[in-house]
Amino acid sequence: MTTTESNPTDGTVHGESPAPTGPTSKIDYSERIPNNVNLAGDRKLQRALEGWQPKFLDWWKNLGPSIPTHDVYLRTAIEVGRDGWAHFDRVPMEQYRWGIFLAERDPDRTIPFGQHKGEPAWQEVPGEYRSELRRLIVIQGDTEPASVEQQRHLGMTAPSLYDMRNLFQVNVEEGRHLWAMVYLLQAYFGRDGREEAEELLKRNSGDYDSPRILGAFNEETTDWLAFFMFTYFTDRDGKYQLGTLKESGFDPLARTCTFMLREEAHHMFVGTTGVQRTVQRTAELMKQHGTDDIWDHGGIPLSVIQKYLNFHYSVSLDLFGSETSSNVAAYYSAGLKGRWMETRRKDDHLLTDATMEIPVVEGGAITTRTVPMLTALNYDLRSDYSADCGAGVKKWNKELEAAGLEERLALPHQGFNRKVGAFAGHHVSPTGELIDEATWQAHADEWLPTAEDHARVAALMVPHYEPGEFAGWISPPPVGINNLPVEYDYVRF
Ligand SMILES: [Fe+2]
Ligand SMILES: [Fe+2]
Repeated sequence: MTTTESNPTDGTVHGESPAPTGPTSKIDYSERIPNNVNLAGDRKLQRALEGWQPKFLDWWKNLGPSIPTHDVYLRTAIEVGRDGWAHFDRVPMEQYRWGIFLAERDPDRTIPFGQHKGEPAWQEVPGEYRSELRRLIVIQGDTEPASVEQQRHLGMTAPSLYDMRNLFQVNVEEGRHLWAMVYLLQAYFGRDGREEAEELLKRNSGDYDSPRILGAFNEETTDWLAFFMFTYFTDRDGKYQLGTLKESGFDPLARTCTFMLREEAHHMFVGTTGVQRTVQRTAELMKQHGTDDIWDHGGIPLSVIQKYLNFHYSVSLDLFGSETSSNVAAYYSAGLKGRWMETRRKDDHLLTDATMEIPVVEGGAITTRTVPMLTALNYDLRSDYSADCGAGVKKWNKELEAAGLEERLALPHQGFNRKVGAFAGHHVSPTGELIDEATWQAHADEWLPTAEDHARVAALMVPHYEPGEFAGWISPPPVGINNLPVEYDYVRF
């Protein structure tokens, strides 16, 4: 019923998002704000959220998708259980029912890591960790509307109605993820939570005075190749961050993130298959014309796809922060933010004696240093993320192989084009050589998209709004959404 990302190498760890377990719970759609948290039983909170709702809708009107549409074939969550959680229908986007959906509560859940390991999970915010928890929620919350803002004009150049629908599905769900975080702020953080909820709508992507908190969320998503790379690499950072918050000792946060991950799987799918279909078309054209220079044949050269990949991967690595961080060590020890797949790891979940090798640049070389593992949890998460990213690249390379081409795509070295952490301030080539400024300058245009690349990709972004029609730079998908044909009119104007 739902479209999930499948992954041949490791479906459990790197593919589909973890499924919510336990009994299902229906979402009440008769309420102004659909929810499964018995909002009607808390008048004060209900009023606060109903006060925020029109501001959210204003934000959506002003900074959501800019192309006017009549209706879109979208999925909406109807229950949070393991099966059949989504319902598909045509809806006018502004009437989408954004709401508050938490995974079922497990009454026996205990804190899985840190100094409170084994204690019952917190149902209220522990006073001593209040500001840290609020900060974690605000940072996560800030990324959700940011991506909607970044992608707002893409509908104007959609390569097909199928792709346009997928863009809007991602957009409405990122809007819902904002709701998810705003619910936590308003329900558990009193007045300062309400203030933070307002601020989440006031900061805007790329705004000079009031930008979004994290760098990658202030870059405009200029074209559809950038969108697919963003959903592949940057949404995937989101998946990993949610994966750490889903382990949190603060149970409402854990339950919220568990359900968000369920929705996030589709965003990964859009990125993986979007790049794959682009590569497939590129491979066809390369084969047909015997050259990578396929601009004039309406395709995106593989070398340019590689440059986009280099850019999006490197800025997404920056989102993980420095390799070592005392804040992250404190979050872990306090039981606020765990590791990816925390409960499946076979160690003491305290990490007080564990160590880890991290990369460092020292004496003109890239080497490693051993540090306490607690301080290296950003790097630990980033390593899992990188392995996951590599799985998609393998899939894309299969398209090249199938076309009988020698060329391959590759992830650049972790030190390439970095602004945060051990490699910041150094130049590293995509293959991992430490290089000087002059060498970097001489090659930067071969490694990162140039203004000309962006302009030529933009020139290919001609909209295709007839059902079943696809732009020439991308292959159609093998199947449609929810078992509908590819040529279904997923968006109506
Ligand atoms: Fe999200
Ligand atoms: Fe997402």
